[in-house]
Amino acid sequence: MIVLLVTCLVAFLWPTVHSADASVEWCYHKPACNFTTWPKIASQYCNGIKQSPINIVTASVQGNPSLTSFNLTAFDDNSTFLSIVNSGDSVVVTLDDEKIKVQGGDLPGVYNTKQFHLHWGNGSSSSGSEHTVDGKQYPMELHIVSVHSKYHGSVSAALAAKDSTGLAVLGFFIEGTNEVNKTKSWDILTSYLTEIRNSGDQTSDIMNQITLNSLIEGVDRTKYYRYQGSLTTPSCNEAVIWTVFKEPVKVSHDFINRFSTTVLFKDASTSVLNTNNFRGVQPLNSRVVTSQVTVASAAPSSSTSSVITVLLLSSLYWL
Ligand SMILES: *[C@@H]1O[C@H](CO)[C@@H](O)[C@H](O)[C@H]1NC(C)=O
Ligand SMILES: *[C@@H]1O[C@H](CO)[C@@H](O)[C@H](O)[C@H]1NC(C)=O
Ligand SMILES: *[C@@H]1O[C@H](CO)[C@@H](O)[C@H](O)[C@H]1NC(C)=O
Ligand SMILES: *[C@@H]1O[C@H](CO)[C@@H](O)[C@H](O)[C@H]1NC(C)=O
Ligand SMILES: *[C@@H]1O[C@H](CO)[C@@H](O)[C@H](O)[C@H]1NC(C)=O
Ligand SMILES: [Zn+2]
Repeated sequence: MIVLLVTCLVAFLWPTVHSADASVEWCYHKPACNFTTWPKIASQYCNGIKQSPINIVTASVQGNPSLTSFNLTAFDDNSTFLSIVNSGDSVVVTLDDEKIKVQGGDLPGVYNTKQFHLHWGNGSSSSGSEHTVDGKQYPMELHIVSVHSKYHGSVSAALAAKDSTGLAVLGFFIEGTNEVNKTKSWDILTSYLTEIRNSGDQTSDIMNQITLNSLIEGVDRTKYYRYQGSLTTPSCNEAVIWTVFKEPVKVSHDFINRFSTTVLFKDASTSVLNTNNFRGVQPLNSRVVTSQVTVASAAPSSSTSSVITVLLLSSLYWL
């Protein structure tokens, strides 16, 4: 009964697991259902042309002056973490979406933040981020998932609407550091993993301990990549405005290692540690990744270029 309840709760809060096609049994760890099979076993969207994650080729990133700073509401509030759940595929922290909101950053409106979850490899020396940058894969990736306010907190409503801007996901790379106890909040977060070892386990003891900001400490929130993509798990709906922050969060190796050594996959037959729960990178196709305009890597704005032209012309004239 409890398991059933938790399963329903997980299905509700974690739409990427049981969304449009609930019959699909997908996985990360078995040849019959790992991500190379998803275009076949969840063909409705997983074989689309705007899939995630991607490899970000920095030399091809285009400048976009509209990518302003974010307004992240209640990221400093320690009363927003409702529960921590082993979804069978990831560790999901459900959030108070009436408090936490994301806006700005060229997003088309206000987004209510539902949950965050993680992707990892096999210990801090075996990488497991989903996005890569110039081929570099980080040890872990944190995804903060928000849904446009017009869907009143319902991710399934946003997916049903087939709205390419229905969801906004903020992606943060996690990098290992030899510094001990970095950071206290990651110590607290990962200390709950032993309580949610099995698929379907959850606890709400996590209230009033951690803020979202403390988990992404040190990252410059004004420097990010932007592109249009999908959920990275079946049914892979192309409904996500992706934001991938350039700077990684630095977390002690010990805390990173707790994920791949504690939490079990959903698996009816055996106990299998959850490792390498990431999807491999997908073709970019005709999409363009954009980022903030910088002097070094992007075209100057028209006003800057006309100033430069005037300066050039006048110096030529003087020559
Ligand atoms: C996934 O399964 C296929 C066989 O279907 C296998 O060739 C491949 O190595 C597996 N990949 C991963 C990442 O497990
Ligand atoms: C940020 O969002 C909050 C809550 O939605 C709002 O009250 C505030 O005015 C916004 N701040 C800015 C600078 O836009
Ligand atoms: C993960 O690493 C452990 C320890 O190095 C190793 O025993 C295990 O086989 C690895 N698992 C996978 C799936 O590679
Ligand atoms: C790390 O944290 C543990 C437990 O909170 C504490 O016992 C230990 O002294 C800390 N180590 C350092 C170097 O701060
Ligand atoms: C949570 O935040 C409240 C209000 O800011 C503060 O009084 C309390 O000490 C915080 N709790 C922890 C565990 O940091
Ligand atoms: Zn994810």
